Amino acid sequence: METAFERNQLRAQRPIGVFDSGVGGLTVSRQIAARLPHESIYYFGDTLRCPYGPRSLAEVKAFARQISSWLVKQEVKLLVIACNSATAAGLETVQRLFDVPVLGVIEPGARAAVQATVSRRVGVIGTIATIESGAYTKAIRDLDAGITVFSSATPRFVEMVEQGLRLDRNPLEDIMAQTSSLYIRPAFQEIARDYLNPLKRCNIDTLVLGCTHYPLLTPLISSIMGPDIQIISSAEETALEVASTLARKGQLAAPDAQPVLRFATTAEDTEEFARLGSAILARPVGDPLHVSIAELEQGLGKKERAC
Ligand code: DGL
Repeated sequence: METAFERNQLRAQRPIGVFDSGVGGLTVSRQIAARLPHESIYYFGDTLRCPYGPRSLAEVKAFARQISSWLVKQEVKLLVIACNSATAAGLETVQRLFDVPVLGVIEPGARAAVQATVSRRVGVIGTIATIESGAYTKAIRDLDAGITVFSSATPRFVEMVEQGLRLDRNPLEDIMAQTSSLYIRPAFQEIARDYLNPLKRCNIDTLVLGCTHYPLLTPLISSIMGPDIQIISSAEETALEVASTLARKGQLAAPDAQPVLRFATTAEDTEEFARLGSAILARPVGDPLHVSIAELEQGLGKKERAC
C-alpha cells in the first residue's frame, strides 16, 4: 500500500493538461514550458470547432467538459483551460467535475491588471463570448471595486491570428517575439485601429489581452496603443499560478525529469496544426494525435453529461 507521499510523487511525474479552441492556448503552454522546463505538457487544440468566441456559453461549456474529460483520462495532474471563452463558460463546471486542480486564464490576467494599473482605468479585449460573459469585469472588480473597466469584443483578431499564421512563410521566425512583423500589415492595422482607438480615448493605462490568441498580436496592438499603455497577457500570469499551485501541492516534476510535450487536436489537417503550433512554441510539434468529435462526445461519463 503506497503512502500519500508516494502517491504525490507518482502524480508529480504526470503531464499538465492544457487546452484551447485551437493553437491560441500554445501561448500559455509556451510560458508554462519556459517557467517549468521539467514539466511534461499534454496540449489539446479543438481546431475543428474553432472559433469558440461567437458560440453560446452553453455550447462552449459542453466543449470544455468533453476536452477536460479526455485530458483527465490521459492522467494529467493539473488542467489549464488556456482559452478565455472556455474559462468564462466552463471553469466552475470543470472544477466541480474532476478531482484534479483546474486553472483558468481570466483570474490570473485580472490580477495582473489590478496590480499594474495606476489610473485604475483598465481596458479588456476578447471574444464575444468572453466579453459578453462579463467575467473579466467581475474578476477585476472583485479585486478592486474602485477600478473602471472598459471592455470591447474584438472577434476579428482571432481570424487575423489564424490567417496570419497561415500566411507566414518563414517558419524559423519567432512569431512571439516583440520584433515580429508578421501582423504589421496595412489590412490588419486598419482593423486593429478601428477596434482599439475607442478604448484609447477612454484614457486607460492598462489593456488586458483577454484571449489567448492575442499575445501573437502584441507588436500590432502596442503600435496602436502607444508606449504609455501596459499590455497584460494572462499567459505569463497563468504560468506563475501553475508553478505555485504545483509547488504548494508538492507535485512539481523532479529537476532531472525529461519533459515530454504531446499534442492532440480535432483538426483534420494535423500537419498544419503541427506547423502552426511549432511557430508559436518555437520548437517542433511532432505528430499530433487526431481525436474525433465523436470520440470526445462519447467519452463523457454519466455525471459529466448531466452537469
Ligand atoms: N483562444 C480563445 C480565447 O482565449 C479564443 C479563440 C476562439 O474564439 O475560439 O478565448
